[in-house]
Amino acid sequence: MVIDEIRSEFAKLQDRLQKGPIFPNVTPEEIRNHLASRYSFCGPLDLQTIVADVEQMLANWQVQVTHPRYLGLFNPSVTLSSVIADVLVAFYNPQLASWRTSPAGNEIERFTLDWLASRFGFPQDAIANFTNGGAEANLSAVIAALTHAFPSYGDNGLASLMTAPVIYLSEEAHHSFSKIAHMTGLGRHALRIVATDAQLRMDPQDLARRVVEDRRRGLFPLMVVGTCGTTTAGVIDPLPELGSYCRQEGLWFHVDAAWGGAAIVSPQLRQHLAGIEAADSITCDAHKWFSVPMGCGMFFCRHPETLVQAFRADASYMPGRPTESARDPYTTTVQWSRRFVGLKLFLSLAQHGEAGYAAMIEQQTRMGHRMRECLIGSGWRMVNTTPLPVLCFTRDGLDVPRCLASMREQQIAWVSEARIGGEPVIRACISSFRTTEQDVLWVVDEMNRIFRQQVASPAVGKEC
Ligand SMILES: Cc1ncc(COP(=O)(O)O)c(C=O)c1O
Repeated sequence: MVIDEIRSEFAKLQDRLQKGPIFPNVTPEEIRNHLASRYSFCGPLDLQTIVADVEQMLANWQVQVTHPRYLGLFNPSVTLSSVIADVLVAFYNPQLASWRTSPAGNEIERFTLDWLASRFGFPQDAIANFTNGGAEANLSAVIAALTHAFPSYGDNGLASLMTAPVIYLSEEAHHSFSKIAHMTGLGRHALRIVATDAQLRMDPQDLARRVVEDRRRGLFPLMVVGTCGTTTAGVIDPLPELGSYCRQEGLWFHVDAAWGGAAIVSPQLRQHLAGIEAADSITCDAHKWFSVPMGCGMFFCRHPETLVQAFRADASYMPGRPTESARDPYTTTVQWSRRFVGLKLFLSLAQHGEAGYAAMIEQQTRMGHRMRECLIGSGWRMVNTTPLPVLCFTRDGLDVPRCLASMREQQIAWVSEARIGGEPVIRACISSFRTTEQDVLWVVDEMNRIFRQQVASPAVGKEC
């Protein structure tokens, strides 16, 4: 493997991206015409030419999520070692569905997951697997909770239950749960939106009230989803209270730590994740704050037997298990064919070490604090509270959509619009370990300039 060549290409790419635009400016027709004019698949083309063309398309026609001023939706800059891992995996094309087909891949994944499970405070016999992402991990959690509560669910389906299971989560929880409720047959109305407090954290008293109400109506309170780092505001639900309530009431406690879970490796931040160790299951995406390329989610479950039941499969064409202790992932997870996605996290962890990861995560957290300080110092108002680097803010007289349009047109930074309590606000997340203090100070200065222009010329022209 030519590590030095990949390293040098990667460095050149980072340099080009940093100097180039963050936002693409292209229409679907432009891309479709380009593709149709060059590719008919009728005969062979020169590989070098095709690769150069595809690179141009990627360089010009996408949001550059690895740009240091992409302050976005948890899409990270990626470590060199994780990129090398993806190349290695494509070279060897390991199939991880069964242990026998890739003993090395399966054991490397297991080793990596066991390490992270122990950081979360899970028992040694907990079971974990890599997923495509957080949505698949959340789906696994709901299927596991149903199987645990209703052993007959797998064979006879929801229709055989004499009751209707209900899932509790806050308005701030990830919207994958709506699709999951639909896909599992629970139905979208099985979701109960629990109230939040002033800091957007799930209110345990409202949760208890909703559970009592549902039981009185003959429904079955199944699980509570606590989020560790909500998508909009980066908020952490009160995990210790939710965990002890679930234990007391016999509900499955799932913690969706898709983004925030990585903070467990930081000595400065892990205190905020206290309570996660009591979860029945956890979602954590390495392709978010562990800074590896897409397609690297993780699902952790305290109840191995439940997953063995939930995803059991018996196919004579699959190679058998070599020993009792070697599980075949196709029999304990949603997927069948399985890419070796865990190598990205393994290689990156092995190269940087836990301390290196803590430094990356704490650097991003510091940049978040710095940006918050500067915004407040220049008159902006924060509308979220979190120790993590997600900032939601606005100011009196601001026209949020116009301001965002200016930031886009002038290629200042990728930030998004969010709604908090019905109010449109700006959301920025430090999602790149390459974002520097200079970047955040410059972005705040530019936002101040845009705001001043907006106030000086209200609703005139395209500019703020
Ligand atoms: C809290 C949370 N959970 C789950 C997901 C879904 O993860 P994925 O996009 O990896 O499927 C996201 C995505 O941003 C998220 O923020």
